[in-house]
Amino acid sequence: MWSGTPLFPDRASAMASRVDALYFFLVGLTIFFSLLIAGLIVYCAVRFRRRRSDDVGAATHGGMLLEVTWSAIPLLITMVIFVWSASVFFAMTRPPDDTLNIYVVGKQWMWKFQHLDGQREINELHVPLGRPVKLIMTSEDVIHDVFVPAFRLKADVIPGRYTNIWFQPTRPGRYHLFCAEYCGTRHSGMIGEVVVMGPTDYQTWLSGGAPEGSLASTGAKLFQDLACNTCHRPDAQGRGPVLEGLFGKTVQLQTGETVTADEAYIRESILMPAARVTGGFQPIMPAFQGLVSEEQLLALIEYVKSLQALPQVQTR
Ligand code: CUA
Repeated sequence: MWSGTPLFPDRASAMASRVDALYFFLVGLTIFFSLLIAGLIVYCAVRFRRRRSDDVGAATHGGMLLEVTWSAIPLLITMVIFVWSASVFFAMTRPPDDTLNIYVVGKQWMWKFQHLDGQREINELHVPLGRPVKLIMTSEDVIHDVFVPAFRLKADVIPGRYTNIWFQPTRPGRYHLFCAEYCGTRHSGMIGEVVVMGPTDYQTWLSGGAPEGSLASTGAKLFQDLACNTCHRPDAQGRGPVLEGLFGKTVQLQTGETVTADEAYIRESILMPAARVTGGFQPIMPAFQGLVSEEQLLALIEYVKSLQALPQVQTR
């Protein structure tokens, strides 16, 4: 209905129609009440106007029924808005389990995308049609905000943190990507395109080039180069914790607290290892703050993710 209107974005993700339904409901509600109130003002001004110079209005002393009615109806309406918005919000923030994960790094003033198969893109992101895609996002410098109107997708990209957001493209095409957080002089130039391709086209595109191999293999090489492997050994004989099978598990810390080994925890443990030390280990790991880039961190994280738990070896 709106596709020919340049003022209204395409609807190209599974979430778009749900967001639009809520949006149009709010617009409709606003129009209805604006007209109702304006109409009543005009009607009452005419109907109850002063007709003779000695007119005195009748005194009224409250009306319980009226009070209750005009409190209860708005309460009901706002509750409908609340429950409806919350359900859309939860659907948007909880990705399904089987997503295609893509890392995003924002930087003054460009978008860098890193596919797990190794492809890297700048200001252009290729995704397959119909597959839920999860973006794991961070920034190298200041706060940016990824915004794809056609997907009704928008989230802050924050330095020192990973934010997740997901979408499921439903129409092939090229869609605008904006930065929606003022981030400096060339903020308005921090734009790009999301290219949604049919699954076979996407496979062709994927096979087109990843000269350095997968992201995890880049991480594996870095793991050797930085000599991480001298302490983090799979046989539990090293001076650092075993990383095999670690990702997603709960880690018991020295302090007795527990933490989930997610992207953020692994990132922190590389940059500031002393912040949250695993129970039973000494805080002897050197800090890598300033020594590894955001992209190298992503490779290391992906390598740790790829390490499967080894079968328990009995030592006696
Ligand atoms: Cu990045 Cu605005």
